[in-house]
Amino acid sequence: MCGIYGYVGEPTNLASDILCALKTLEYRGYDSWGVALGVNGHLEVRKSAGKIGDATLSLPTSGIGFGHTRWATHGGVTDANAHPHLDCTGRFAVIHNGIVENFRSLRAELELQGHHFRSETDSEVIAHLLEERSKQEGRISPATFGQVIDRLQGLSAIIAIDNETRTMFAAKNVSPLVLGAGPDGSTIASDAIALHGKAELIHHLEDGQVAEIHGGSVRLWDLASMREIAPTWRKLPDRSFDTGLAGHPDFMSKEMAEQPDVLERLARTANGEISAMAHAIQESYGTFLVGCGTASYAALTGSYLFSRIAKRHVNFVVGSEFKYHEHFLTNRSLVIALSQSGETADIIEAMLAARARGARLGAILNAEQSTLDRMVDLCIPLRAGPEQCVLSTKAYTAKVATLIMLAHEVAGQPDLGRKLVLDAASALRSLLTRAWIGRIQAIAEMTRAATSMFIIGRGLSYPTALEAALKIKEVSYIHAEGFAGGELKHGVIALVEPGTPCIVYAPEDESRRDIISGAMELKARRGFIVGIGSRNDPAFDVFVEVPDVGDAAPLVQALPAQMLGYHSALIRGNDPDKPRNLAKSVTVK
Ligand code: G6P
Repeated sequence: MCGIYGYVGEPTNLASDILCALKTLEYRGYDSWGVALGVNGHLEVRKSAGKIGDATLSLPTSGIGFGHTRWATHGGVTDANAHPHLDCTGRFAVIHNGIVENFRSLRAELELQGHHFRSETDSEVIAHLLEERSKQEGRISPATFGQVIDRLQGLSAIIAIDNETRTMFAAKNVSPLVLGAGPDGSTIASDAIALHGKAELIHHLEDGQVAEIHGGSVRLWDLASMREIAPTWRKLPDRSFDTGLAGHPDFMSKEMAEQPDVLERLARTANGEISAMAHAIQESYGTFLVGCGTASYAALTGSYLFSRIAKRHVNFVVGSEFKYHEHFLTNRSLVIALSQSGETADIIEAMLAARARGARLGAILNAEQSTLDRMVDLCIPLRAGPEQCVLSTKAYTAKVATLIMLAHEVAGQPDLGRKLVLDAASALRSLLTRAWIGRIQAIAEMTRAATSMFIIGRGLSYPTALEAALKIKEVSYIHAEGFAGGELKHGVIALVEPGTPCIVYAPEDESRRDIISGAMELKARRGFIVGIGSRNDPAFDVFVEVPDVGDAAPLVQALPAQMLGYHSALIRGNDPDKPRNLAKSVTVK
């Protein structure tokens, strides 16, 4: 995974610019970071394990350099494994996002040729491959760089500096890279968000292109023909949303609080896009919803919504499992990816596979201009604004709200779908009070000694239970598991001990009677029962009230679990925005 940023141009206080850009990219990984600058004819490298935090670097001004923020795949979280990586001579520096899947054989070959490796990473092979080619040819040209990249298997975005010619080269396979042109020089990054203040125009590097950046200007080459091509420069989009904390202590609390506004905006703006997607669903012979992590639970919720509202079967597949399901796709299939970032590698791979089989591609997506956005035939933008906490909250409810409206549109009831979402938005607003949040804080206190938690729901509330468990575990580190209420007795109940917190989703639908029976079974084993619904029940030890909003229930049900995870994390001293071992945008398989 990882975030990468580079600059070639007028000499400037580059180390601090790079650190600043890397902070905007830390959502892609934050276990270690590093910087390389061309200074007085050599490459100065600084790297360190840990988040960037308040790091400062005292390095001279420079006109060429880059930086990297890492999410470890190959090799532990150490200073040595942090990028950049150099070749044996110190002429080439490389930063990399992705995995070199054939790195073992490349490393063995290079070691036989006498190369000395300083890290355990897959990425370091790239620096040594460049060195090896330079031994044969002297100068590294865009063609030679392209040939080196061609030897790498897997999804990657790579930037290299040749210090001898003060040239930066870049290429990618699926993982994103955006070139920027500004008054002082050229920039390149994993995400255009890192180019603000430095670039006015951007070009999304495509697979099969090599960028050569020298003296501040960019030349682009088509790898297959080695012909020079013109970049398709477009204006860097404005930052239309506030990216600050707006008075909140962290992004998680800010983004949870934004949910009513996000849902209202969506209900008011997405009508045309929803009817276009509904039409595509009706035309298709087989619709698939795919997503990873939180997005997968939104997708699963979608399959329940389509069944009950539109009386239509819509398949649900987890992104990373899609390739094992793709065999029956045809040119009449429609595959709709749900994604906040639009960069999740498993999703992009699933969509490439679907396209190869001729399927139509759709997306329900937050990040406009992302890789997913640029590859699909039709898209419903969530317009939720940047989601900066690693945990997905507002993008999740926005995806579910979209699916509620989409299912109603397919059922010929678009006004009802919009009304349900607007009702849920008001309900969420009514919950976001000090008193209601205080109640959740109290539950976090009551369960502070818990090491395990179970969450059950049935029907439409079953995916909600899965998402609730994910939310709680990823930020509080409490082992939390979600289950279909009916499955309890088939094994899970063996794990319930006196005092084990068990969260029970009990909405006012056909699942209520059966889920209350499940709650009673848990209570009989002396579990500590936390009920969530609009009506209390004697089965509950504690009750969290949420308004009854009918089929929009998953929207109001999400908030108690988000809040419980958040307050449990604070009690444990965890960073809610950057939980351990995670990254917001998972750009590796
Ligand atoms: C990571 C994030 C999750 C997110 C998932 C899918 O695992 O930590 O919060 O749900 O990726 O991300 P996407 O950007 O595709 O929605």
